[in-house]
Amino acid sequence: MLSEINLKVVDLKKSYKNIPAINGVSFDIHKGDILSIIGPSGAGKSSLLRNIIQIESPDYGEVYIDGEILFSKTEDKKNIISHADMMKRKEKMGMIFQHFNLFPHKTALENIIEAPIIVKKINREEAIEEALKLLDRVGLKDKSESYPNELSGGQKQRVAIARALAMKPAILLCDEPTSALDPELIGEVLSVLKELAKEKMTMIVVSHEISFVRELSTNIAFMDGGKIIAMDGSEDFFNNQKNERIIDFLNKIYHK
Ligand SMILES: Nc1ncnc2c1ncn2[C@@H]1O[C@H](COP(=O)(O)OP(=O)(O)OP(=O)(O)O)[C@@H](O)[C@H]1O
Ligand SMILES: [Mg+2]
Repeated sequence: MLSEINLKVVDLKKSYKNIPAINGVSFDIHKGDILSIIGPSGAGKSSLLRNIIQIESPDYGEVYIDGEILFSKTEDKKNIISHADMMKRKEKMGMIFQHFNLFPHKTALENIIEAPIIVKKINREEAIEEALKLLDRVGLKDKSESYPNELSGGQKQRVAIARALAMKPAILLCDEPTSALDPELIGEVLSVLKELAKEKMTMIVVSHEISFVRELSTNIAFMDGGKIIAMDGSEDFFNNQKNERIIDFLNKIYHK
């Protein structure tokens, strides 16, 4: 059975100061897929996530979420969508960042309930109840009243994951979620992401934690120079890799 396409990206392009960072990227993700994007620094991985979730507006291409247009800018001008539709569809994606991006003046709980209350118009009591469940799920039941500066990096990232989940996203984008963490804190964040994977959350993960990538991903994309050079099922990517450039990259990160 063909599973449902969750996210479709078509010929996406974005330049910064006339230098292309994303140079024609296309791929599909099915429900429950976990796509890991790897590649050298400056390849365009973070730019790609930001332009998919519309934190930035791409120069060209299309993005579809659950079969609906989120972004379209091509020669075919038929697909213009209203700002309201775009905002609604954007809610289907959550993102977590390398540096957590929590609101420093809000507690863990307040960080989590803000978007559900303001964007989704959920009443405060319901939002709090859900947020407490999410904090429990990421192992931080007793930290609801803590401010970000009272939390470790791993705890901050787990709050950030709970905050993204509070919007009930159909897909979660993770940009190097553990690369700002001390080694002993990486595991606690990865285990939350592994739980989500088990629950079949669709995810795109940019990460250099190669053993995690290998264990978790259904698909791997290798990005270089703003393009996806290769994309394969995880098994084939690691075991039958023929591309010299990728073999060289994998050797380097395995032996770091
Ligand atoms: N807002 C911006 N303004 C100007 N240039 C940018 C901007 N964002 C990204 N770039 C440029 O786009 C290119 C791709 O950057 P990007 O951050 O997407 O790479 P990356 O693959 O995430 O790298 P890393 O592994 O170091 O995080 C780089 O040359 C970068 O300098
Ligand atoms: Mg990056």
